[in-house]
Amino acid sequence: MTGDGDDDTAAGTPVERAKAALAALGADGDDPSQSSRSTTPTVAVAPGRVNLVGGHTDYNDGLCLPIAVDRHVAVAARTRSDDLLRVHAADFDETAELAPEDDPDGWAAYVAAVARVLREDGPVDGADLAIASDVPTGAGLSSSAALELAVGRVLLAVSGRDLPTTDLALACWRAEREGVGVECGILDQFSAALCEADSALFLDCRTREFESVPLGDDAGVLVIDTGVSHELTESGYNDRVRECAAALDTLREDTDCDLDSLRDVDRDLLDAHADALDPTHFRRVRHVVTENERVRRARDALAAGDLDRVGDAMLAAHDSLRDDYEVSCPELDAAVELAAGTPGVYGARMTGGGFGGSAVALVDGDALDRAERAIRDAAPERVGPDADVFACRPSGGVRLVDVE
Ligand code: GLA
Repeated sequence: MTGDGDDDTAAGTPVERAKAALAALGADGDDPSQSSRSTTPTVAVAPGRVNLVGGHTDYNDGLCLPIAVDRHVAVAARTRSDDLLRVHAADFDETAELAPEDDPDGWAAYVAAVARVLREDGPVDGADLAIASDVPTGAGLSSSAALELAVGRVLLAVSGRDLPTTDLALACWRAEREGVGVECGILDQFSAALCEADSALFLDCRTREFESVPLGDDAGVLVIDTGVSHELTESGYNDRVRECAAALDTLREDTDCDLDSLRDVDRDLLDAHADALDPTHFRRVRHVVTENERVRRARDALAAGDLDRVGDAMLAAHDSLRDDYEVSCPELDAAVELAAGTPGVYGARMTGGGFGGSAVALVDGDALDRAERAIRDAAPERVGPDADVFACRPSGGVRLVDVE
């Protein structure tokens, strides 16, 4: 990996910056026969996401209700005549050259992992890629899934291939698990793939069925990035996955029931077998069981236009993630408390894996500007010096972009 790629000015949209970075890539001494630099680039974008309700349910076969945000990773590509992927990350001004067998670290690991999974079902042509993003990294907005989906979509396109979007999402999910080592569920990749504009995505992680639920014109969404960076591979994320698996094993033994996952556990079953579980595992399972109930309630409330009830579900979800699942942190709690006390806010909760990252707030659309200003003014003192606040519109999932 090198830092000598051509400079990107950080001005413009991710698509414009990715295109400019691709045009500049290779200007300094590459063999021009290796890349067809005159062709129009192929460009894909994929969004970051926030999850309104349904935290840590996905790897338990549960339910979630994410929206994609209008912040994107853009990847511009052109084919090469060899089998290399030469990838320039404009935001870091770094370039990686990846042969098919390479297994790099850092951001390039995501690109290599996606290419490796896609190669299992067909050829992936060599290509020059340039990446630019306005999804903050480490903020719990799933910039990594956005990167995977945009890379996957563009690599399929330059290789003359296509896949149903759910298959691409599953390929990217496998890339994250096998290539990067996070034992995550499908939430992030399905959100970056399948969300629709102005809607939340009701996602059943067991059946992988999904349904768009319009957010309505009255709703606004605020993201409060605590500025505390989270890193899933180093956080307690995989610990939680293992605790759920251990609790499931105990319940299987104690109930003698054929439980496939914690999705099969309801409150009655949990209460009847509470004594078999150690207290920590009991609370983990209670979170999963009650969170699935909250997702259903929030989906129904959203469909009925009852944003107060959606907000209530978000606040209850945060309490459960904080107390039962123990994946919050003081800054996230402060962000949720600040948002919840701001006029016009229906509800708020931490989003993403936790241990840092962002909170999401559902806000009355008419009060959005005022609420954003009030939270931004108070955030440095109440949440932390690096806190950032921004409004977002629910956006569509991964797509190829027309470029002339
Ligand atoms: C991270 C993971 C997701 C999901 C969330 C928590 O974002 O990548 O799979 O588990 O945490 O809901």
